Amino acid sequence: MELEQAVVLVTGGAKGLGLAIATHLEQKGAIVSVVDLDADAVAALPAAMQGYVADVTNQSDVGTVVSEIVRRHGRIDILVNNAGVIFSEPFVNIMNPTGMMHDYERFKRSVAANLDSVFIVTSAVVEKMVTLRTKGVIVSISSISASGNEGQTAYSAAKAGVNAMTRTWSKELARMGIRCNAIAPGFIDTLSTRGALNESIIKHIQSNTPLRRLGRGEEVAQAVASVITNDFINGVVLDVDGGLTI
Ligand SMILES: NC(=O)c1ccc[n+]([C@@H]2O[C@H](COP(=O)([O-])OP(=O)(O)OC[C@H]3O[C@@H](n4cnc5c(N)ncnc54)[C@H](O)[C@@H]3O)[C@@H](O)[C@H]2O)c1
Repeated sequence: MELEQAVVLVTGGAKGLGLAIATHLEQKGAIVSVVDLDADAVAALPAAMQGYVADVTNQSDVGTVVSEIVRRHGRIDILVNNAGVIFSEPFVNIMNPTGMMHDYERFKRSVAANLDSVFIVTSAVVEKMVTLRTKGVIVSISSISASGNEGQTAYSAAKAGVNAMTRTWSKELARMGIRCNAIAPGFIDTLSTRGALNESIIKHIQSNTPLRRLGRGEEVAQAVASVITNDFINGVVLDVDGGLTI
């Protein structure tokens, strides 16, 4: 699919990786809308992007935003499911004998933010694509944690679910002309990574990465653009991790 004049929705696109993806696609000529929870970050978006404030775990609010974009632009060609919240909690914490096990409410919140959100937004967008006979592309931002990362039960499970939905939809929706792929970033140099990891952990990650550095947001954005523009890529989960998982 060509990016020039393509109508794109990027979830969680007001900051971090989502903003890098939205900016890259916009620079390639796409008409970009962003939906994000953070009203201040949405207000600060470049004028060329249309911003919507909504929670992508809320089905009714997502329906309203998707309908509004279709009303304005006539269709949605590309959905980038980027909104998510990195979350870590050990399954067993023996230092806390009264609350040793992973909290179930936090498990459900993490799965809602990282997995339910992808189901909800893709469902609303694909309904429009099918109704309007749009040959579309879905790209979801997963993580290398999907293969199981110590201390990230909920986040790893949610991202593994994103990969499974991507492969399932790639089979189910191809006959309607809709391709589905995922990008699984490793450690990318974003504020969220710098906030979650201290300097010594970052150094350790860099020394274990064959390319000896963190990734850049633009490199994830380039991977998103690649799976959009190559019409024979379908059902792929593409690692963008400098070789860390080899
Ligand atoms: N940063 C990394 O190194 C890295 C690595 C692997 C995967 N990822 C994934 O990339 C995506 C973006 O991560 P990031 O590092 O840019 O995070 P971030 O926290 O900087 O940005 C996430 C954006 O999503 C928005 N958001 C979160 N929950 C939302 C909701 N329910 N509704 C609407 N908007 C919501 C936030 O407001 C924020 O603007 C996430 O899915 C994350 O799991 C990031």
